[in-house]
Amino acid sequence: MEEAVQNIQDALLKRFGERFAVDAMLPGLGELARLAERRVCRSYTKRDVPPDLLRLMCACALSAPSKSDLQQADILIVRENDRRAKIADLLPAMPWLRDAPVFLVFLANGRRVPQVSRLRGKPFPNDHLDLFFNATVDAAIVLATFLRAAEAAGLGCCPISVIRDHARAVAELLELPEKVVPVAGMCVGWPAEQGALSPRLSLATTLHEERFAEGDLAGEIDAYDRRRAETRPYRNQRDVARFGRAEFYGWSEDKARQYAVPQRADFGGFVRAQGFHLD
Ligand SMILES: Cc1cc2nc3c(=O)[nH]c(=O)nc-3n(C[C@H](O)[C@H](O)[C@H](O)COP(=O)(O)O)c2cc1C
Repeated sequence: MEEAVQNIQDALLKRFGERFAVDAMLPGLGELARLAERRVCRSYTKRDVPPDLLRLMCACALSAPSKSDLQQADILIVRENDRRAKIADLLPAMPWLRDAPVFLVFLANGRRVPQVSRLRGKPFPNDHLDLFFNATVDAAIVLATFLRAAEAAGLGCCPISVIRDHARAVAELLELPEKVVPVAGMCVGWPAEQGALSPRLSLATTLHEERFAEGDLAGEIDAYDRRRAETRPYRNQRDVARFGRAEFYGWSEDKARQYAVPQRADFGGFVRAQGFHLD
Protein backbone atom coordinates (compact mmCIF):
# COMPACT_ATOMS: atom_id res chain seq x y z
CA MET A 1 0.00 0.00 0.00
CA GLU A 2 2.76 2.38 1.02
CA GLU A 3 4.48 1.62 -2.27
CA ALA A 4 1.33 2.31 -4.32
CA VAL A 5 0.83 5.65 -2.52
CA GLN A 6 4.42 6.58 -3.27
CA ASN A 7 4.10 5.52 -6.90
CA ILE A 8 0.94 7.57 -7.38
CA GLN A 9 2.45 10.64 -5.77
CA ASP A 10 5.69 10.36 -7.72
CA ALA A 11 3.93 9.88 -11.06
CA LEU A 12 1.46 12.72 -10.52
CA LEU A 13 4.21 15.04 -9.36
CA LYS A 14 6.06 14.38 -12.62
CA ARG A 15 2.80 14.64 -14.56
CA PHE A 16 1.32 17.82 -13.06
CA GLY A 17 4.11 19.40 -11.04
CA GLU A 18 1.98 19.08 -7.92
CA ARG A 19 1.99 16.82 -4.87
CA PHE A 20 -1.36 15.13 -4.25
CA ALA A 21 -2.71 13.82 -0.95
CA VAL A 22 -3.34 10.07 -1.22
CA ASP A 23 -5.12 8.18 1.55
CA ALA A 24 -3.24 4.93 2.17
CA MET A 25 -6.57 3.23 3.06
CA LEU A 26 -8.16 4.06 -0.28
CA PRO A 27 -9.26 0.90 -2.14
CA GLY A 28 -7.91 0.41 -5.67
CA LEU A 29 -4.55 2.07 -5.06
CA GLY A 30 -2.87 -0.40 -7.43
CA GLU A 31 -5.19 0.56 -10.27
CA LEU A 32 -4.81 4.27 -9.52
CA ALA A 33 -1.03 3.86 -9.63
CA ARG A 34 -1.34 2.16 -13.02
CA LEU A 35 -3.45 5.05 -14.34
CA ALA A 36 -1.12 7.69 -12.90
CA GLU A 37 1.95 5.97 -14.34
CA ARG A 38 0.50 5.01 -17.72
CA ARG A 39 2.20 5.94 -20.96
CA VAL A 40 1.85 5.25 -24.63
CA CYS A 41 3.78 2.24 -25.99
CA ARG A 42 5.20 2.35 -29.52
CA SER A 43 7.71 -0.50 -29.32
CA TYR A 44 6.66 -4.17 -29.13
CA THR A 45 8.32 -7.56 -28.81
CA LYS A 46 7.68 -10.19 -31.50
CA ARG A 47 5.44 -12.16 -29.10
CA ASP A 48 1.92 -12.53 -30.41
CA VAL A 49 -1.23 -11.47 -28.57
CA PRO A 50 -3.35 -14.66 -28.39
CA PRO A 51 -6.78 -14.27 -30.02
CA ASP A 52 -8.56 -15.34 -26.81
CA LEU A 53 -6.76 -12.69 -24.79
CA LEU A 54 -7.63 -10.07 -27.38
CA ARG A 55 -11.30 -11.12 -27.34
CA LEU A 56 -11.27 -10.86 -23.55
CA MET A 57 -9.81 -7.33 -23.74
CA CYS A 58 -12.40 -6.34 -26.35
CA ALA A 59 -15.23 -7.72 -24.21
CA CYS A 60 -13.96 -5.72 -21.21
CA ALA A 61 -13.68 -2.60 -23.39
CA LEU A 62 -17.19 -3.07 -24.76
CA SER A 63 -18.44 -3.28 -21.16
CA ALA A 64 -17.87 0.49 -21.03
CA PRO A 65 -20.86 2.75 -20.41
CA SER A 66 -22.86 3.56 -23.51
CA LYS A 67 -25.03 6.62 -24.16
CA SER A 68 -28.71 5.61 -23.63
CA ASP A 69 -27.50 1.98 -23.85
CA LEU A 70 -27.48 2.51 -27.62
CA GLN A 71 -24.16 0.60 -28.02
CA GLN A 72 -22.88 2.51 -31.02
CA ALA A 73 -19.18 1.57 -30.79
CA ASP A 74 -17.59 -1.37 -32.62
CA ILE A 75 -14.03 -2.71 -32.66
CA LEU A 76 -12.44 -4.12 -35.82
CA ILE A 77 -9.41 -6.42 -35.40
CA VAL A 78 -6.85 -6.32 -38.24
CA ARG A 79 -4.35 -9.18 -38.19
CA GLU A 80 -4.26 -10.15 -41.86
CA ASN A 81 -0.81 -9.21 -43.16
CA ASP A 82 -1.82 -7.84 -46.52
CA ARG A 83 -4.49 -5.53 -45.14
CA ARG A 84 -2.21 -4.47 -42.29
CA ALA A 85 0.60 -3.72 -44.70
CA LYS A 86 -1.70 -1.58 -46.85
CA ILE A 87 -2.72 0.49 -43.81
CA ALA A 88 0.91 0.72 -42.63
CA ASP A 89 1.95 1.84 -46.14
CA LEU A 90 -0.35 4.85 -45.75
CA LEU A 91 1.57 5.92 -42.61
CA PRO A 92 5.29 5.34 -43.20
CA ALA A 93 6.18 7.85 -40.45
CA MET A 94 4.68 5.46 -37.88
CA PRO A 95 6.55 2.14 -38.17
CA TRP A 96 4.99 0.92 -34.89
CA LEU A 97 1.83 0.33 -36.89
CA ARG A 98 3.61 -2.35 -38.95
CA ASP A 99 5.51 -3.79 -35.96
CA ALA A 100 2.62 -4.27 -33.52
CA PRO A 101 1.27 -7.84 -33.54
CA VAL A 102 -2.30 -6.54 -33.59
CA PHE A 103 -3.98 -3.47 -35.00
CA LEU A 104 -7.48 -2.49 -33.95
CA VAL A 105 -9.81 0.13 -35.32
CA PHE A 106 -12.42 1.72 -33.06
CA LEU A 107 -15.52 2.55 -35.04
CA ALA A 108 -18.39 4.94 -34.52
CA ASN A 109 -21.38 2.95 -35.74
CA GLY A 110 -24.29 5.26 -36.50
CA ARG A 111 -26.11 2.72 -38.67
CA ARG A 112 -27.22 0.14 -36.13
CA VAL A 113 -29.80 2.27 -34.30
CA PRO A 114 -31.55 3.33 -37.55
CA GLN A 115 -31.42 -0.36 -38.56
CA VAL A 116 -33.09 -1.31 -35.27
CA SER A 117 -35.77 1.33 -35.89
CA ARG A 118 -36.37 -0.13 -39.35
CA LEU A 119 -36.47 -3.69 -37.99
CA ARG A 120 -39.11 -2.62 -35.49
CA GLY A 121 -41.05 -0.59 -38.06
CA LYS A 122 -40.51 2.73 -36.30
CA PRO A 123 -39.56 6.16 -37.67
CA PHE A 124 -36.05 7.47 -37.06
CA PRO A 125 -36.27 11.30 -36.93
CA ASN A 126 -32.76 11.60 -35.42
CA ASP A 127 -30.46 11.59 -38.42
CA HIS A 128 -28.47 14.70 -37.45
CA LEU A 129 -25.23 15.72 -35.73
CA ASP A 130 -26.22 14.03 -32.47
CA LEU A 131 -26.12 10.58 -34.13
CA PHE A 132 -22.51 11.11 -35.20
CA PHE A 133 -21.53 12.71 -31.90
CA ASN A 134 -23.05 9.97 -29.72
CA ALA A 135 -21.46 7.19 -31.73
CA THR A 136 -18.08 8.93 -31.68
CA VAL A 137 -18.22 9.50 -27.92
CA ASP A 138 -19.15 5.85 -27.35
CA ALA A 139 -16.24 4.73 -29.54
CA ALA A 140 -13.82 7.00 -27.64
CA ILE A 141 -14.98 5.59 -24.31
CA VAL A 142 -14.56 2.03 -25.57
CA LEU A 143 -11.07 2.94 -26.81
CA ALA A 144 -10.10 4.35 -23.41
CA THR A 145 -11.54 1.31 -21.65
CA PHE A 146 -9.60 -1.01 -23.97
CA LEU A 147 -6.40 0.84 -23.03
CA ARG A 148 -7.14 0.37 -19.37
CA ALA A 149 -7.94 -3.35 -19.76
CA ALA A 150 -4.93 -4.04 -21.96
CA GLU A 151 -2.52 -2.17 -19.72
CA ALA A 152 -3.88 -4.07 -16.70
CA ALA A 153 -2.97 -7.30 -18.51
CA GLY A 154 0.55 -6.03 -19.21
CA LEU A 155 0.00 -5.09 -22.86
CA GLY A 156 1.20 -1.84 -24.38
CA CYS A 157 -0.93 0.27 -26.72
CA CYS A 158 -0.73 3.25 -29.02
CA PRO A 159 -3.93 4.87 -30.33
CA ILE A 160 -3.60 5.96 -33.97
CA SER A 161 -5.79 8.85 -35.05
CA VAL A 162 -3.57 9.50 -38.06
CA ILE A 163 -5.53 6.81 -39.93
CA ARG A 164 -8.10 9.58 -40.36
CA ASP A 165 -5.61 11.38 -42.60
CA HIS A 166 -6.51 8.60 -45.02
CA ALA A 167 -10.08 8.02 -43.90
CA ARG A 168 -11.45 7.13 -47.35
CA ALA A 169 -8.66 4.61 -48.10
CA VAL A 170 -8.99 3.04 -44.64
CA ALA A 171 -12.77 2.84 -44.95
CA GLU A 172 -12.37 1.06 -48.30
CA LEU A 173 -9.72 -1.36 -47.00
CA LEU A 174 -11.92 -2.24 -44.02
CA GLU A 175 -15.09 -2.28 -46.10
CA LEU A 176 -16.86 0.16 -43.79
CA PRO A 177 -20.49 0.60 -44.78
CA GLU A 178 -22.55 3.79 -44.72
CA LYS A 179 -22.71 5.57 -41.32
CA VAL A 180 -19.65 3.77 -39.93
CA VAL A 181 -16.46 5.81 -39.50
CA PRO A 182 -13.08 5.07 -37.93
CA VAL A 183 -12.49 7.12 -34.76
CA ALA A 184 -8.95 5.85 -34.18
CA GLY A 185 -6.78 2.82 -34.68
CA MET A 186 -4.75 1.13 -31.93
CA CYS A 187 -1.47 -0.76 -32.00
CA VAL A 188 -1.42 -3.51 -29.37
CA GLY A 189 1.49 -5.70 -28.28
CA TRP A 190 3.83 -6.68 -25.48
CA PRO A 191 6.02 -3.70 -24.58
CA ALA A 192 9.65 -3.97 -25.71
CA GLU A 193 10.57 -0.97 -23.58
CA GLN A 194 8.92 1.39 -21.18
CA GLY A 195 8.28 4.80 -22.69
CA ALA A 196 8.67 8.05 -20.77
CA LEU A 197 5.92 9.55 -18.66
CA SER A 198 4.41 12.55 -20.39
CA PRO A 199 3.84 15.65 -18.22
CA ARG A 200 0.43 17.27 -18.53
CA LEU A 201 -0.86 20.84 -18.29
CA SER A 202 -1.35 21.90 -14.69
CA LEU A 203 -4.70 21.28 -13.03
CA ALA A 204 -4.94 25.08 -12.74
CA THR A 205 -5.38 24.95 -16.52
CA THR A 206 -7.62 21.91 -17.00
CA LEU A 207 -9.59 21.48 -13.78
CA HIS A 208 -12.38 23.99 -13.09
CA GLU A 209 -14.45 24.35 -9.95
CA GLU A 210 -18.05 25.53 -10.03
CA ARG A 211 -17.57 27.66 -13.14
CA PHE A 212 -15.21 27.83 -16.08
CA ALA A 213 -12.20 29.96 -15.24
CA GLU A 214 -9.25 30.36 -17.59
CA GLY A 215 -7.05 32.21 -15.11
CA ASP A 216 -3.52 33.09 -16.17
CA LEU A 217 -3.44 30.85 -19.24
CA ALA A 218 -0.27 32.37 -20.74
CA GLY A 219 1.59 32.04 -17.43
CA GLU A 220 0.42 28.46 -16.88
CA ILE A 221 1.36 27.45 -20.43
CA ASP A 222 4.78 29.02 -20.03
CA ALA A 223 5.34 27.23 -16.72
CA TYR A 224 4.20 23.95 -18.29
CA ASP A 225 6.56 24.38 -21.24
CA ARG A 226 9.49 24.82 -18.84
CA ARG A 227 8.47 21.97 -16.50
CA ARG A 228 7.92 19.62 -19.43
CA ALA A 229 11.26 20.53 -21.03
CA GLU A 230 13.07 19.32 -17.90
CA THR A 231 12.10 15.70 -18.58
CA ARG A 232 10.71 15.64 -22.14
CA PRO A 233 12.59 18.18 -24.26
CA TYR A 234 11.74 18.08 -27.97
CA ARG A 235 14.51 16.55 -30.07
CA ASN A 236 13.36 18.20 -33.29
CA GLN A 237 11.69 21.48 -34.16
CA ARG A 238 8.85 21.46 -36.70
CA ASP A 239 8.92 23.49 -39.86
CA VAL A 240 12.15 25.40 -39.25
CA ALA A 241 12.09 26.65 -42.84
CA ARG A 242 8.81 28.47 -42.17
CA PHE A 243 9.13 29.48 -38.52
CA GLY A 244 12.88 29.55 -37.88
CA ARG A 245 14.78 27.84 -35.06
CA ALA A 246 13.39 28.70 -31.64
CA GLU A 247 15.88 29.28 -28.84
CA PHE A 248 13.48 27.59 -26.44
CA TYR A 249 11.20 25.06 -28.09
CA GLY A 250 8.47 23.93 -25.71
CA TRP A 251 5.13 22.13 -25.99
CA SER A 252 3.19 25.28 -26.91
CA GLU A 253 5.60 26.18 -29.72
CA ASP A 254 5.38 22.62 -31.02
CA LYS A 255 1.56 22.50 -30.93
CA ALA A 256 1.24 25.98 -32.44
CA ARG A 257 3.52 24.93 -35.33
CA GLN A 258 1.70 21.60 -35.72
CA TYR A 259 -1.62 23.38 -36.07
CA ALA A 260 -0.29 26.11 -38.35
CA VAL A 261 -0.78 23.51 -41.09
CA PRO A 262 -4.30 22.38 -42.12
CA GLN A 263 -5.11 19.05 -40.51
CA ARG A 264 -7.68 16.73 -42.06
CA ALA A 265 -9.69 19.54 -43.61
CA ASP A 266 -11.45 16.86 -45.68
CA PHE A 267 -12.68 14.85 -42.69
CA GLY A 268 -16.10 16.53 -42.59
CA GLY A 269 -16.52 15.71 -46.28
CA PHE A 270 -15.60 12.08 -45.60
CA VAL A 271 -18.05 11.81 -42.68
CA ARG A 272 -20.82 13.32 -44.82
CA ALA A 273 -19.97 10.99 -47.69
CA GLN A 274 -20.30 8.08 -45.24
CA GLY A 275 -23.91 9.15 -44.83
CA PHE A 276 -23.87 11.17 -41.62
CA HIS A 277 -25.80 14.44 -41.53
CA LEU A 278 -23.88 16.94 -39.45
CA ASP A 279 -26.48 19.71 -39.04
C1 LIG B 1 -7.27 9.58 -29.77
C2 LIG B 1 -5.76 9.45 -29.80
C3 LIG B 1 -5.11 9.39 -31.00
C4 LIG B 1 -3.73 9.24 -31.05
N1 LIG B 1 -3.12 9.11 -32.28
C5 LIG B 1 -1.79 8.84 -32.34
C6 LIG B 1 -1.18 8.59 -33.60
O1 LIG B 1 -1.80 8.68 -34.67
N2 LIG B 1 0.13 8.24 -33.61
C7 LIG B 1 0.86 8.12 -32.46
O2 LIG B 1 2.04 7.78 -32.54
N3 LIG B 1 0.32 8.39 -31.24
C8 LIG B 1 -1.01 8.73 -31.16
N4 LIG B 1 -1.60 8.94 -29.94
C9 LIG B 1 -0.79 8.85 -28.72
C10 LIG B 1 -0.52 10.26 -28.18
O3 LIG B 1 0.47 10.86 -28.99
C11 LIG B 1 -0.06 10.15 -26.71
O4 LIG B 1 -1.13 9.65 -25.95
C12 LIG B 1 0.36 11.53 -26.19
O5 LIG B 1 1.56 11.92 -26.83
C13 LIG B 1 0.56 11.55 -24.69
O6 LIG B 1 1.47 10.55 -24.29
P1 LIG B 1 1.05 9.48 -23.18
O7 LIG B 1 -0.11 8.68 -23.72
O8 LIG B 1 2.27 8.62 -22.96
O9 LIG B 1 0.66 10.25 -21.96
C14 LIG B 1 -2.97 9.15 -29.86
C15 LIG B 1 -3.65 9.24 -28.63
C16 LIG B 1 -5.02 9.38 -28.59
C17 LIG B 1 -5.71 9.45 -27.26
